[in-house]
Amino acid sequence: STYDVVIKNGIICTASDFYPADIGIIGEKIAAICDYIDPVHGGEIIDAEGGIVTPGGIDAHVHVDEPMKLLGDVADTMGEATRSAVAGGTTTIIAFASQDLSLTGPRALSQSVKNTIDMYSEQRLYCDYGLHLILARLEGTGTATKDILDQQLGNVYEDCGVSSLKVFMTYPGLQMSDYNLLNAMYASRKNGITTMIHAENGDIVRWMTESLEGQGLLEPYYHGVSRPTIVEGEATNRAVTLAQTMDNPILFVHVSSPEAINTIRRAQTAGLKVYAETCPQYALLSDQDTKCAHGDNFAGAKNVCSPPLRPEEVKQAIWRGMNNGSFTIVGSDHCAYLYSSKAKGKHNAFEKCDRGRFRYIPNGMPGVCTRLPLLFDAVMRNKLNSFMKFVEINCTNPAKVYGCYPQKGALLPGSSDADIVIWYPNDKEYAFKPKVITNDLLEHACDYTPFEGVEIKNWPRFTIARGKVVYKEGKLMHDNATGQYIRRKKTSLSYPNNEWPSEWRPIYTKCNSPVIQ
Ligand code: URP
Ligand code: ZN
Ligand code: ZN
Ligand code: ZN
Repeated sequence: STYDVVIKNGIICTASDFYPADIGIIGEKIAAICDYIDPVHGGEIIDAEGGIVTPGGIDAHVHVDEPMKLLGDVADTMGEATRSAVAGGTTTIIAFASQDLSLTGPRALSQSVKNTIDMYSEQRLYCDYGLHLILARLEGTGTATKDILDQQLGNVYEDCGVSSLKVFMTYPGLQMSDYNLLNAMYASRKNGITTMIHAENGDIVRWMTESLEGQGLLEPYYHGVSRPTIVEGEATNRAVTLAQTMDNPILFVHVSSPEAINTIRRAQTAGLKVYAETCPQYALLSDQDTKCAHGDNFAGAKNVCSPPLRPEEVKQAIWRGMNNGSFTIVGSDHCAYLYSSKAKGKHNAFEKCDRGRFRYIPNGMPGVCTRLPLLFDAVMRNKLNSFMKFVEINCTNPAKVYGCYPQKGALLPGSSDADIVIWYPNDKEYAFKPKVITNDLLEHACDYTPFEGVEIKNWPRFTIARGKVVYKEGKLMHDNATGQYIRRKKTSLSYPNNEWPSEWRPIYTKCNSPVIQ
């Protein structure tokens, strides 16, 4: 037969189109999209039965167990995170490789990434994954000077296909000074690396935390009080200024604050290359979800993350930002910790914080599985404007901004991997068509979901990764799990502006693109 797989009777939905058509898959690639493909031309026929067919999701913000254990005992291995991803329609995740501070030399960062890839090569992966680099420190590690960092980032890109870097403006041990943020941005700009920024003013957080502790205000809820929206707003504004100084495109991750959104919007209006990610939890949960529940006065700790869940009224600003383009992408910021179970070989991360002071609660919550279903649902509830918008922010834009488009994030015959989600037709009943979210649906290693019991109107019926069905009506297809590491190219979104705030201007010895000087 002409095609290995034919998907029939679906409604194709991409970032730009919504129309009925059939899809022909050959091997790992999308080979054809036509009004009609005769079933005789297909080896395997999948009847979409009128359901929406989208590109697989790209979750570009997922934390899994990694050699450096920068975030402590997270629940999921890469294998478990990819398993949970495909159970929710995500077919590519981008996780993090942290700088190994024990390594030195011009390939120290590159070696950090390689060691991370080696660790994952032994796991069964249900979908493809990429890695961002986390720069933990600049001093004393061979990255002290601008030029060495420049060289390192060039090597990371050449050796590993890593085209993005995350830096932090908060967290003890990770917080960077403005000077080092400039160094990171300088080296990023020079190499065409996308700089991802965790924007919270770590000094304000520290000050407020000490003050709250002094008053005996220690419960999980006060984690949020220790870092209100202005804390994110200030850091966002400062990072925009630093990025403007370096003429460097930046992307703010996990944006949750109205002040931050306004700053981002203003920067975008001014023509700066500023992108932003938000997460479903900021649109759907609130600070009230960090309060005590069901007699467990620590249960709110499950929903502690940074930036924290915000007051109820902030949610509408998050939805507005998704709809009006202020947010370029949505990521889950999946960072799961076991709350209570004693799973074999896993460490219960919450034990360490002795269920006392909020300062010691591990930050983060699971979400790699629920991101797409929750946002698909948001279209059906008129919170998100269209299914095309859903695909744009969850699939297509992440691929573009992180340099894997159109291999990922699109349904382009001849170019795109056959990473596809077939959703249930809305009006039909099936033996398996979940109506509420439960933790066992999510296939992750964590023992809770912040969205337990939340009603949803749809769920991925089939998830196809590189042409193979990896999830079908509630069941994982273990034998089809053939995920791989993907090297990425540089962003296909915009280049720097070539505008400098003064006669100060770095002298570059190399250009990384015809238009970047
Ligand atoms: O609370 C969070 N977001 N944990 C994950 C680490 C990070 O900063 O993204
Ligand atoms: Zn962060
Ligand atoms: Zn994160
Ligand atoms: Zn323990």
